[in-house]
Formats: sequence, C-alpha cells, structure tokens
Amino acid sequence: MGQISQKLTEQLCGPQSADQRHLETLLQVSRAIGSIHDTDLLMHTIMDQVTAAFCADRSTMFIHQPDSRELYSNVAQGVEEYGHEIRIPDRHGIAGDVFHSHEPVCVADTLEDNRFARAVASNTGYVPRSMLVVPVLHRTGRGLGVLQVMDKRVGYFDELALELLEAIAVQVAIALENAQLYEAQQRQFDSFVFAFSAALDARDPLTAVHSINVANYAMGIAFELGQGPAEIEWQRIAGLLHDVGKIGTPEMVLSKPGRLSDGEFAVMKEHASHSATILSRIEFTEQFKGMAETAAAHHERLDGSGYPLGLKADQINLRARILAVADVFDALTQDRHYRAGMSLEQAFGILDEQAPHALDANCIAALKRFMAFN
Ligand SMILES: [Fe+2]
Ligand SMILES: [Fe+2]
Repeated sequence: MGQISQKLTEQLCGPQSADQRHLETLLQVSRAIGSIHDTDLLMHTIMDQVTAAFCADRSTMFIHQPDSRELYSNVAQGVEEYGHEIRIPDRHGIAGDVFHSHEPVCVADTLEDNRFARAVASNTGYVPRSMLVVPVLHRTGRGLGVLQVMDKRVGYFDELALELLEAIAVQVAIALENAQLYEAQQRQFDSFVFAFSAALDARDPLTAVHSINVANYAMGIAFELGQGPAEIEWQRIAGLLHDVGKIGTPEMVLSKPGRLSDGEFAVMKEHASHSATILSRIEFTEQFKGMAETAAAHHERLDGSGYPLGLKADQINLRARILAVADVFDALTQDRHYRAGMSLEQAFGILDEQAPHALDANCIAALKRFMAFN
C-alpha cells in the first residue's frame, strides 16, 4: 500500500463514526473522478481509497470483456506488482456470480462458499477469507464489471460496508462510461481521418501511402526532437491530413506521367490553400487546434520561396517545419510518375542541400536519427 493509502487507513480506521468515514470516502472518490483524467490512474486511485476506507488487505476491480466473455482485473492490488493480471470466465467464481446476478454479496468465509474460485487463488498465491463483492452497472442495467474488497484487517465486513461499496460502484460506473465514451469518440475521429486520407491517396496508386508515410516520418522526427505523446499525435493527424486539398486537384495534373508545365504546377500548388480551407471547416478539439494553418504550411520554406503564403523563417512554426521535411523525404524516396524513388543517401543528400535556407536542419538531423542513417 502506498503512503497516501497508509495515511487514509489511519484516518478512516480511526475513531470516526461509520457515517463520517463513508461520507469522506465518497467525497474522495468524487474528487478523484473530477481531477484525474487518465482512466488507468483514476481506477488505481479509487481502489487505493477503497482498500484504505474498508481497512481491507486488498481490492480488485474486474472489467467485463464481452468478446471473450471474461472478467479481467483492471486493478488487482498485490498481484499486478508481480506483473500479473487475473482473467476469469465471466460466470466463474464469486465475481462471476455477482456479475451475472447483479446481486452484491458479503462473504464471511470464502472457504465455506462453493462459488469461490480456488484455482484463481492458487494461481495468485493469495487466498482471501472475507470478501465484499458488488456489481458495476451501466445506467441501462448492463454489467460493466465487479468490485471486490478482501480481508478486513479490523472487525468484519457488514451490511453498511456493502452499501458503501455499492455507492462507490455507481461512481466507478459513471467514470467507466465516460472513459468508454471518450475512447469511442477517439476511435471515431481516428477512423474518419484515416478513411479521409486513404480516399485521397487512392486517387493516385503511385502516391497511395504518401499520407501514412508522412505521418510516420513526422511522428519519428517529433519523437527524436524529444516531443511528448500529445505533440507526436498532433503530427500523426497532420501527416494524414496535410494534402487533403489535393482532393480538388484535376487528375490529369495529379497523375501526369512526366514533369508538370508551369501552368500545371501552379494548379498543383493550389492544393496547399485548399487543404487550409477544408481543414478550417473541421471543428477540431483543443488538442488539434491550429491544424488548418499548420498542415497547409507544409510547402512553406524558410527563405520565403514556398507556398501558399511565402512565409519566412520564424513565421513557420516547428510543426510545419517537421511536416515539410517529412513530406519532401517521402516524395524523394517514393517512385514518381517521372522518376524512380531515390536511395536514402540520395534523398538525405538533397535534404542537406536544402538546409538551412529552405528546410530546418534540426528536423533533418532528427529524421536521420529516426531512419538510423549516419
Ligand atoms: Fe502537399
Ligand atoms: Fe504531401
């Protein structure tokens, strides 16, 4: 048990009334739900609070996996320290029974209970004697999982304790629902972006994986520059969407088997401002703010020779500089209608020629590290 839990145990097992302790526990769980955004950390914090509040030895939070019809331990105190998780069929043991019946139970002695999963206990090396087990239910009544608290250190689990654990399970259900909703929204956004970029890439078989490649190189550069996960994710989305403006480029220009004339090149260049227009119509969340201006700036160059705005040096932010290097690198190394893809040596030779007047030298160096190119 961590230091905070230890302190909580001292507070909560002290000479307060049961009502006071229960209220304090519910408040702490509410505060955790309101302040911790990482679901995994939140669930661990709640279960720490539960163990402390019940003066118990340990607690487990099982989450139901409908596909495999299993309950797996999202939090399993005392077991996960050893790198284990518990996975049981969803009708197995006391947890499985509570999951299906939706009936909370207070077990005074597990060894007297036929439902007790002895095999799980011998696998984990821990045999609990007394347990409180309650279902975690979605507001529609669907089972989301099970909470169980094991081995009270002082006295016995009673009906009042069971009621408190049920109240906590309601809060856990709300937090889980929110987390699952957020994850579903993330998946929806992700699949939309991916489908959008794939539809664009499919217009020309020779550039079929360009958006994915640019996303991967941009993420690699950001990683090598020491950027955090949120910034790396930003580059992934920007890489996938940077050329969406090509959706309006005529096919005879996009797939021309040969060099473009000046007029055709002028038409091709319009895709950058089209990307800005299209992306500005998407309501990105705070995390992806600035996507339209920056993703559309992947053809800007440090000396002002780029397009669509002819921005210079400090006017081009690091995100756009990363995209520019990733974009040029993929264009050089992939086959084009008018030439074969270049080797890494040739491609990095050209990138080096363009640094520092056109492309960011630090981003090129980061890409070399990412590609393990010396
Ligand atoms: Fe482009
Ligand atoms: Fe591109």
